[in-house]
Amino acid sequence: MILKSIFFVLLNFIVAGLFAQTTPWDVPADRSAKLSTTAFTDQNRNTGRNLYQANCKSCHGDPGKNNVIKLVPPPPDPAATQLQQNTDGSLHFKISEGRGAMPSFKNILNSAEIWNIIAFLRTFNKDYQQQLAVKPTFGGEVFDKVELKLTADQTHTTIVAQLTGFKGSLVKPIAGLEVKLFAVRYFGNLMVDKPMDTNAEGKALFSCPKNLPGDASGNVSLVAQLSNEELFGLVKTESTLAIGLPTDRPPLNEPRALWNVVQKTPVWLLISYLASVLVVWGFIVVVLLKLRTISKLGE
Ligand code: HEC
Repeated sequence: MILKSIFFVLLNFIVAGLFAQTTPWDVPADRSAKLSTTAFTDQNRNTGRNLYQANCKSCHGDPGKNNVIKLVPPPPDPAATQLQQNTDGSLHFKISEGRGAMPSFKNILNSAEIWNIIAFLRTFNKDYQQQLAVKPTFGGEVFDKVELKLTADQTHTTIVAQLTGFKGSLVKPIAGLEVKLFAVRYFGNLMVDKPMDTNAEGKALFSCPKNLPGDASGNVSLVAQLSNEELFGLVKTESTLAIGLPTDRPPLNEPRALWNVVQKTPVWLLISYLASVLVVWGFIVVVLLKLRTISKLGE
């Protein structure tokens, strides 16, 4: 009996040991360095507590009580060093992206809500002192307005997203911020090139894909957006540039096109659809007639 329990205890240690060898969580350097642009207030912490109760408590338990759910690897208690040793940015990354049993929250909570949860989590760390993100400023003064503008060069090999800050009548390019570029498609947006940082002239340079289909004249709708929404809110611009391959697709207002209302269905589609419906109904009628014959024979 004793031997048996010792055996199971050992087995548990071995199994737990094997699984506890989790690979360290890879957090990209720029994400782990990310900081909130606003100071955590009591209001943030309260909102964070409510969000924590609703979304996290079921697994991570009550902070400081170590009543976490039994999973392998276990979700750490928020008051524990394992969680608190993370930078604000890596907490934000891990909560956004998730891993294994830890769900990804980026489509459930927005960035500000995640910062509120972090504000709440930090109340369980006496040594924590918040560091704020440094917003690019105009010689120490906040910009009135920040704008992105899209252009393509003459040869259409590069797309330029220009980031500019305005202060009164003064204009200043903003360097060192990441911009993402998308081509607008019917079903969601397609990322063009990888995210790029703005250079000293405030320009993010994207290389233009050679075979990007455009409309009949090669126009492509593009959206450029500042990756970090914490700094200036959502900074985004949409432009149509002639950088694509001219592609002749029947537009939706054509007399007969596939993606269209029933009255405008292509004739071949209409005929084959009706034919298959007829075949199926014909089959059903034949079966019913046979059944009638069988029941007649029975009588
Ligand atoms: C379904 C259970 C579950 C829920 C719900 C959940 N987590 Fe987790 N969480 C886990 C698990 C399991 C891990 C460990 C994952 C790993 O290390 O691979 C984890 C890890 C983490 C980590 C990383 C800790 C470290 O080791 O650096 C953070 C931060 C975290 N969770 C925060 C949250 C927050 C905040 C919420 C709510 C918004 C939440 N979790 C909701 C299960 C959960």
